[in-house]
Amino acid sequence: MTEVSKPNILVTGTPGAGKSYLCERLAAQLKFTWLDCSKIAKDEEFVLEYDEEYDCPVLDEDKLMDHLEPLMAEGGNIVEYHSCDFFPERWFQAVFVVTCPNTTLYDRLKARNYNEKKLNSNMQCEIFCTILDEARESYKPDIVYELSGETKADAEKSMKTVKNWYSMWKRK
Ligand SMILES: Nc1ncnc2c1ncn2[C@@H]1O[C@H](COP(=O)(O)OP(=O)(O)OP(=O)(O)O)[C@@H](O)[C@H]1O
Ligand SMILES: [Mg+2]
Repeated sequence: MTEVSKPNILVTGTPGAGKSYLCERLAAQLKFTWLDCSKIAKDEEFVLEYDEEYDCPVLDEDKLMDHLEPLMAEGGNIVEYHSCDFFPERWFQAVFVVTCPNTTLYDRLKARNYNEKKLNSNMQCEIFCTILDEARESYKPDIVYELSGETKADAEKSMKTVKNWYSMWKRK
């Protein structure tokens, strides 16, 4: 085996922080497969129930993981999800947490017409750095990187960070 397989990357963070915006561009430039777990769950109906209070589907994590396992074995995936503690740690060689300043995030979530409860809980998630903490608790802290998802310039910077990480990974 002379061919070096590609790593799998997790991109996580509060809803609206800018994960998809980054993943779409990264996948195109790195030639990785972008796996948006919210979209997969919806398309494949990996849903346990509908949470009326927060106006969102409740993910069937086991079904999602059964679906992802063979894809992860191949490598070269960028997995996107707004939570990260239930994936097997062994899947990912790097975890990037996209964060966004409160005022910008508020405007983005408002634009999505989220109900008050959902909007507040997502804002609190960002204010208390919930996903960053979750990532550092679920994976080795030295493979967890924070990226800003606020501006286009931030996205450019984040792309460079991920590309640099990938170059280093290939040299290992
Ligand atoms: N770096 C950025 N610069 C400018 N606008 C951005 C940036 N990142 C995201 N946006 C905008 O913010 C909105 C939310 O971004 P995005 O859909 O990427 O969030 P997300 O983290 O993927 O959310 P979800 O968890 O719901 O999938 C979109 O309208 C997007 O165009
Ligand atoms: Mg998204």
